[in-house]
Amino acid sequence: LARGAAEPDLTGRHVVVSAGGTREPLDPVRFLGNRSSGKQGYALARTAAARGARVTLVAANASLPDPAGVDVVPVGTAVELREAMLRAAADADAVVMAAAVADFRPAAYAAGKIKKKDDQEPAPITLVRNPDILAEISADRARAGQVIVGFAAETDDVLTNGRAKLKRKGCDLLVVNEVGERKTFGSEENEAVVLGADGSETPVAHGPKEALAETVWDLVAERLG
Ligand code: CTP
Ligand code: CA
Repeated sequence: LARGAAEPDLTGRHVVVSAGGTREPLDPVRFLGNRSSGKQGYALARTAAARGARVTLVAANASLPDPAGVDVVPVGTAVELREAMLRAAADADAVVMAAAVADFRPAAYAAGKIKKKDDQEPAPITLVRNPDILAEISADRARAGQVIVGFAAETDDVLTNGRAKLKRKGCDLLVVNEVGERKTFGSEENEAVVLGADGSETPVAHGPKEALAETVWDLVAERLG
């Protein structure tokens, strides 16, 4: 570990982290969302800044204070998150997609509030696919040697699902969490295995989200060389 050395190991690097969860509006008062608190992404941003990086944090609907010394770009939807990520990733050494991105959004946005009618059943909501930001950033690398990290919350066959997802996304590292009570959503703590495209597997014991963040940056720093 280079931490604690005179020169922090991410000095001179630009890293981009997404955090939180996207919200896909149905009408002016309603959205489809998810349970991501943003805590893991914010922990990644804080720890990278402490290790000397210039940090851009693309924050989707997270109600958390801006970390000191971090450039925070607020976004709402997956489409907005994609635009902010592509812009920030253009000169990034590393990109970490910790945000929970909605896979689908309502096909139509109602400019006026959707009202119920006494004599009618509700209309079904038609969904369309959102862009896959991690896959796109991994396929069209803005820079040679850029290190790209994804996150995946899985149930059931966690590692097999994780390996398949890592391949499908084309990223360098995938942090795989097992979803369960006490773990992951809204919690202060996390437990994970970080899978590498090179076949590596790095278990991270149950602990604070900062500890997982430090391990992610250790693995990123190794790959930046
Ligand atoms: N992700 C993304 N764009 C999307 C969906 C997901 O960039 N439209 C990113 C997430 O930020 C995360 C990684 O991809 O880093 C894995 O997200 P996940 O939801 O687990 O992957 P999916 O391919 O959507 O698979 P699933 O069907 O299991 O939801
Ligand atoms: Ca998904």
